[in-house]
Amino acid sequence: MTGDPLSALRPWEAPEVTSWGRLPMNAVDRRSGALPLDGDWRFQLLSTPDAPVGGSWSSAYVPGAWTTQGTDDLPQYTNVRMPFPEFPPHSPAANPTGVYEREVDVPAEWAGRRIVLQVGAAESVLLVHVDGRPVGVSKDSHLAAEFDLTHLLAPGSPSTLRLTVVKWSDASHIEDQDQWWHGGLTRSVLLYATEALHLADVTVRAGRYGELRVDCRVRDTGGALPEGWYVSGELEGRLLTQDTGFDRANAEDERVSDFLGEARLTATVPDVRTWNAETPELYGLSVRLHRADGTVADTSRHRVGFRDVEIVGRDLLVNGERIFVRGVNRHDFHPLTGRTVTYEDMRADLVLLKRFGFNAIRTSHYPNDPSVYDLADELGFYVVDEATVESHDHAHEIADDPRYLNAFVDRVSRMALRDKNHPCVIIWSLGNESDYGANHDAAAGWLRRHDPTRPVQYEGAAKLDWAATDDASDLACPMYASLEECVEHALSGRQTRPLIWCEYSHAMGNSNGTLADHWAAIESTPGLQGGFIWEFWDHGILQRVSDARPVGRGGVGLHDNGVAAPGHRWAYGGDFGEPIHDGAFIADGVVFPDRTPKPVMYEHRELAAPVRIECFRHEGIVLGNHQHFRGLDWLSGEWELSLADGGRLTAPAELPDLCPGQTAAVPLPFELPEGGGEAWLTLRVTTARDEPWAPRGTVVCLPQVRLRAAAPARPPLPVPRGRVEVDTDGLLVHPLLTAAPALSLWRAPTDNDELGGMGPRWRAWGLDALVRKVTDVRHRADGRVTVHAEHAAEAGVVRHVQVFTPVEGGIHIEESAELPDAFTDVARVGSVFETIAGLDLMEWYGQGPWESYPDRAFGAPVGHHSVPVDELFTPYLRPQESGGRHGVRHFTLSAPDATGLTVVLDEPRQVGVTRYRAGDLTAVAHHDELVPRAGCVVHIDAAHRGLGTASCGPDTSPSYLVSPGVHRWSWTLRAL
Ligand code: GAL
Ligand code: MG
Repeated sequence: MTGDPLSALRPWEAPEVTSWGRLPMNAVDRRSGALPLDGDWRFQLLSTPDAPVGGSWSSAYVPGAWTTQGTDDLPQYTNVRMPFPEFPPHSPAANPTGVYEREVDVPAEWAGRRIVLQVGAAESVLLVHVDGRPVGVSKDSHLAAEFDLTHLLAPGSPSTLRLTVVKWSDASHIEDQDQWWHGGLTRSVLLYATEALHLADVTVRAGRYGELRVDCRVRDTGGALPEGWYVSGELEGRLLTQDTGFDRANAEDERVSDFLGEARLTATVPDVRTWNAETPELYGLSVRLHRADGTVADTSRHRVGFRDVEIVGRDLLVNGERIFVRGVNRHDFHPLTGRTVTYEDMRADLVLLKRFGFNAIRTSHYPNDPSVYDLADELGFYVVDEATVESHDHAHEIADDPRYLNAFVDRVSRMALRDKNHPCVIIWSLGNESDYGANHDAAAGWLRRHDPTRPVQYEGAAKLDWAATDDASDLACPMYASLEECVEHALSGRQTRPLIWCEYSHAMGNSNGTLADHWAAIESTPGLQGGFIWEFWDHGILQRVSDARPVGRGGVGLHDNGVAAPGHRWAYGGDFGEPIHDGAFIADGVVFPDRTPKPVMYEHRELAAPVRIECFRHEGIVLGNHQHFRGLDWLSGEWELSLADGGRLTAPAELPDLCPGQTAAVPLPFELPEGGGEAWLTLRVTTARDEPWAPRGTVVCLPQVRLRAAAPARPPLPVPRGRVEVDTDGLLVHPLLTAAPALSLWRAPTDNDELGGMGPRWRAWGLDALVRKVTDVRHRADGRVTVHAEHAAEAGVVRHVQVFTPVEGGIHIEESAELPDAFTDVARVGSVFETIAGLDLMEWYGQGPWESYPDRAFGAPVGHHSVPVDELFTPYLRPQESGGRHGVRHFTLSAPDATGLTVVLDEPRQVGVTRYRAGDLTAVAHHDELVPRAGCVVHIDAAHRGLGTASCGPDTSPSYLVSPGVHRWSWTLRAL
């Protein structure tokens, strides 16, 4: 690129230069009639932007990142730290630079028209040349750039279009988001043509009372000043009125530049169907620009949602209603392409979110692909639209650095100019983790003036003082602030604005403990309105194990069970050989890289239930409508009664006609059978008809109420029958067991355990390697055997007693463990044993069928469940404790010939049945390295610690900790 004037400017080290030759951002829809330039381009990767082009060409697919397309420049993952040591605004000398070239020939009918190039996204600096002539520069890796090529392209004479993408730049320092670093043209490239007289921008505002206002900006690049142009608008057959007062061409001042004028169209739609996330009603709008003779010079199509957003006191209102924000943070991610997402993929993301009760998306941490907003309008999501500003590593320097002022304002304003017409966007976000400085205030000032219809948020501004009002955030939108802290703030009397976590409940590995506690507090505390779970995706890139290369676009190997295909794995930080990386911290989503929902999704679905069982009273079941805008007519229900003894009854449920917020009692659908055992009533709620996001019959929620508790009295101790065999070490000998029941105080640390410091502490205490010493084995005359053992750990001795009583068909085992006071917080207290091979099916009565843990057990209904043992385990990317089931009363493990064992527990317990010992899980770093055992590894826990979210944010609450002292549990083991 030597000698080139654009390169000579070195725009990659000039933060003041946000663009050159780039057209203003706008919201005119140019999709129809465009000439797509996607496909294979000639490509070469230079080692620096200064290197001469001229080596050999290969090819690269557009849209796509070259980092997943076979180059030696591979993806790299860092969270906070920059991948290079240079301070802003500098970039490293070794700076991969991709040169994309192709010939373009425009259609004959484009002769004489204005021709515009649109580059969907380039990471991180784009330089454009046509036939060697400099055209322009653009920055912001997540927004499109347009360039006027009218005088450079002509039909019939192909030109060479060159797009040069410089990977590292001054802009990288404000794109330091926690994600993979890539390089390339990651969104589509196209050309379109307009007349010289054209719509430069269209701004639509539509309120909940049906008031519609459309502001059109018109330009004429032809030099002539056409007289008498006008615009017209049509909203589903209704013509809008033009307010001619805004027509500058008709004004007396003849000194008109190519900014020709503005025109406003208005209408009031009676009985308007308002837009909200539950009923996302959209109206089609066509805006036309006419010449004086009435012929159409330009058209733009929009979908309009009539809705209002406002903050009143400390409530965020949509159409006057205080909504709850059940949000998730979403990156543009795909396991094959890294960053490039197709329309189908985005639709699948949003459909899945709808099915699991989410109603909001924060586009962390940059404007997402434009189709996300179309889909959010259509399917119904509230969107916090976030600008590409994250200077995490150098946040303090950059927030007040005037060299970056342009960039902040440019990025925020261009996002708003692009997305302003989407009803889904209810809040603008200035960016993420960039401290707080004058550059933010400048961007907020621009937004407030330009779009007074939406609030602005920025975590970095509001976190300094949640009660302050004179800063860049209209909301308090903390990150990982503890529930206690937030409730306290809401109750303090000092809260001045809504509190909606921009990030909470960090979904790394086996996580999201206490989500139900959060929602109980949110729904009962004025001032708290919800939040955005961190995050949607586990960003595992599909990688071949043999050569550690990304599989890339078009690759196969995606399953739908969360596991990469054989010979592949989900790569996380470090797996591409990056010397600087942040490991598995990139795998922190509520879905696996193939979009398989993790168990937390079921928890969320239930927490978001639109219809709930409020309580069970003598007159019947009280149902409530927990939506904000919708009745229950879109849902159907079925009652299911599940009895501990195995009985199950079903009956169709008539859902009452309830307005949002209303409740009504419905009669109990069943006579409770005699018998005295536990009885649970579930309302299976499904979609009554096809919804855009779910076919008829899709489960929406499974609210449940206990109609009858288990008999409270403890059964009398069984009378011994037969004999129990115990070896000289006091270990039970049983034909179905390959390892006798032993004490376990350890779990393979979850990501929360490791990063929250518990895992290291447990290791220091020696809990992963208890040394067992039998102190007493006593055979009683009646057949009982009592075994006393001491388990020595670094930090103390645990006394463990097992009493084995032979009973009809099996053994009853009573256990107790006394934990010294030093063990303030252990993972579990319980028994672990292993079975013979061949027991491949688990059936149980308890919570399920999906994985659940003490602090993540709201969404797993009590019932009779049956799951193959191999499917009980959840394949978190970094192996860790997983596969647990909460509240298990009894279970069987059986072979296809119905032989096997059954365990009856003294009370609902946490049970884990997998193919792995804790040590198997801790020994490896990726799921594909695990070798399943033939038998089952069974854990029965008297107590199991909650999961919390300590990998980033609060740990579980104290009520879910395992305390020192004496724990007792008992269970009966029988052969089937
Ligand atoms: C936040 C940040 C996210 C992500 C998350 C942890 O601090 O905004 O980008 O890093 O923590 O996974
Ligand atoms: Mg960050």
